[in-house]
Amino acid sequence: MIKAAILGYGTVGSGVFNVIKENSELINSRAGQEIEIKHVLDLRKFPGDPVESVLTDNFEDIADDPEVKIVVEVMGGIGAAYEFTKRCLEEGKNVCTSNKELVAEHGLELMRIARENDVNYFFEASCGGGIPIIRALNDCLTADDIDQITGILNGTTNFILTEMTQNDGVSFSKVLKQAQANGFAERDPSADIDGYDPARKIAILSSIIFGSSVDYKDIYTEGIRKISAEDIKYASTMGYAVKLLAEAKKTGDGVRAYVAPFLLDQNHPLYSINGVMNAVYVHGNMLGDAVFTGAGAGSLPTASAVVADVIDAARHDGKRAYCGWRHDEKLALASNDGIKRRYLVRIYTEDQGKANSVFAPDGFLDTISIGDLEEEVAFITPELSEKDFETKEKAFGKIISRIRFY
Ligand code: HSE
Repeated sequence: MIKAAILGYGTVGSGVFNVIKENSELINSRAGQEIEIKHVLDLRKFPGDPVESVLTDNFEDIADDPEVKIVVEVMGGIGAAYEFTKRCLEEGKNVCTSNKELVAEHGLELMRIARENDVNYFFEASCGGGIPIIRALNDCLTADDIDQITGILNGTTNFILTEMTQNDGVSFSKVLKQAQANGFAERDPSADIDGYDPARKIAILSSIIFGSSVDYKDIYTEGIRKISAEDIKYASTMGYAVKLLAEAKKTGDGVRAYVAPFLLDQNHPLYSINGVMNAVYVHGNMLGDAVFTGAGAGSLPTASAVVADVIDAARHDGKRAYCGWRHDEKLALASNDGIKRRYLVRIYTEDQGKANSVFAPDGFLDTISIGDLEEEVAFITPELSEKDFETKEKAFGKIISRIRFY
């Protein structure tokens, strides 16, 4: 038997408790031994809940208990989660987490502490919810040089964009409230909406495939706050979907990474990933293409990934597991300025002439009009680098919005 503790009985923590109870027989047989939850840490009381008998509000009950060999950290945030994780690793306990903020900020240091204490720090649930992407990169695609990862890595924003597309006219704030009620969204919704959450996740995945730490703060990050019902209308009219992508790609100039909304055509492998689903496209030099997809957020899908880590921790009792993210140096990202793309640009109708002379001085811009949007038109630029687009946008003046084509 191996004893475990859970730090935090919120959305994910209660999911972990329930998954371990519900599937105990098969979990124990896959772990090769019985897994018992000995403590659950939370300051709140849960009268009548089965967790009551193992609930504690004192972290020391867990840190000081030599029987506890696996700790699940699902508190979220950095402060206490960082201190508790460090302490547990130093006490020779394996730690499994869904905490992408902590992994993106201190993952390398925590893995070093784990190494020094002969235990493991597992974080499968930090990226892609229930999708087994980290294990796939660390244990399955080990024969390949992975040169690109492109993901829909945030369930909340994918849910919002899907609802906006499928229910014409539904308001952004109404859909966000629904996502929060479903337990997908972060406490501070700007981590989802402004793209910091997928930026952290692509930083973690890139650190695994490239070996050195990618700092999420270095990643160009644009969220979906500015995407309007009108933008979605243009996209749908053209047969495109708007998706918030997080990408890291090896190029001749180095690794480029960004998070931004893109227009995807129907042939793109991530076009039809809808709702809270996440998906990760991976390109390897031998493998070619692979796409991993599944539930990207929510209590049980996330708990499923955390519990898979608990099982792995039990299987690796006394042994170290491999992780590709192992080098101490930080990876310096290449500039995105030279990336060439087409853009969908919305402008006021009276500015069409100016748009033509600025964005297509040697040609003619085709425009797209939508019946009920009388005061505006949209056009598609020729391929422009990020830098050139920015220069032209400044020269043009006021555009209504712009979205990159993938
Ligand atoms: N807020 C996150 C999301 C939760 O919506 O994807 C899962 O990491």
